[in-house]
Amino acid sequence: MKSLYLDQVDSTNTYLKTHYQKLDHFTWLYTNHQTNGRGRLHKVWYGDKDSLMCSVLLKTDLDKAWINLIPLLAAKSLHLVLYPYHNDIKIKWPNDLLINQLKLSGILVESIIEKDQVLAVVVGFGININQIEFRDEIKDIATSLSILTKQIHDKNIIYEALQKQFYEDFQAFILKQTFVIDYCNKYLAFKDQMITYKDHETLIKAKVIKINQDGYLIVEKDHHKTLLSSGEISICK
Ligand code: BTN
Repeated sequence: MKSLYLDQVDSTNTYLKTHYQKLDHFTWLYTNHQTNGRGRLHKVWYGDKDSLMCSVLLKTDLDKAWINLIPLLAAKSLHLVLYPYHNDIKIKWPNDLLINQLKLSGILVESIIEKDQVLAVVVGFGININQIEFRDEIKDIATSLSILTKQIHDKNIIYEALQKQFYEDFQAFILKQTFVIDYCNKYLAFKDQMITYKDHETLIKAKVIKINQDGYLIVEKDHHKTLLSSGEISICK
């Protein structure tokens, strides 16, 4: 495992994707300032020195079927690391962590695939740690560990714990993947509740059932079950 630090970078995910050929498997990159932090579905990620922003590069033989599961694996590892700080953290499929329906963390998984072969996967974590206030765009949907615990936390301790946990979980995941789904279902946000999801431009209301073994979210509408795939879907309560 290698760990890089940059004072500033456009995006830790972009950096690892750009340089993946010359970097080793399990290289981590950490920064305190991103000029173009990115979230899922082309959203902007607003982070600053009070948040933890890091990414890790995976380059080992990766099965294409795992691509759907890696966001859940990352959510599982991060959930386990943050659980001692707050025991009511939920995993919002596919890979946000929520407390009281507010976003504590987002995860962005990006893959480089050529001719059906997975060459690299980059997993980026954005975690709200010591923010007390958020900018207008996100102030109604975000929270931080400091807001919840009324304490300042050491980002390095959380970062090191995440590196260790994700490494252990990844080794186990290569051998068997089911534990990830079981864990995420246990802490799944909105389970048995109605949510609204956006499928392209259409808003659909449905009940959350569970995550299936392939990493898809099963929802139910009018006694009819549908599988959601993480690529195009955004969910709100
Ligand atoms: C999301 O909420 O949609 C995912 C947000 C992921 C943000 C992190 S911050 C570190 C890494 N670099 C990025 O540009 N994005 C991820």
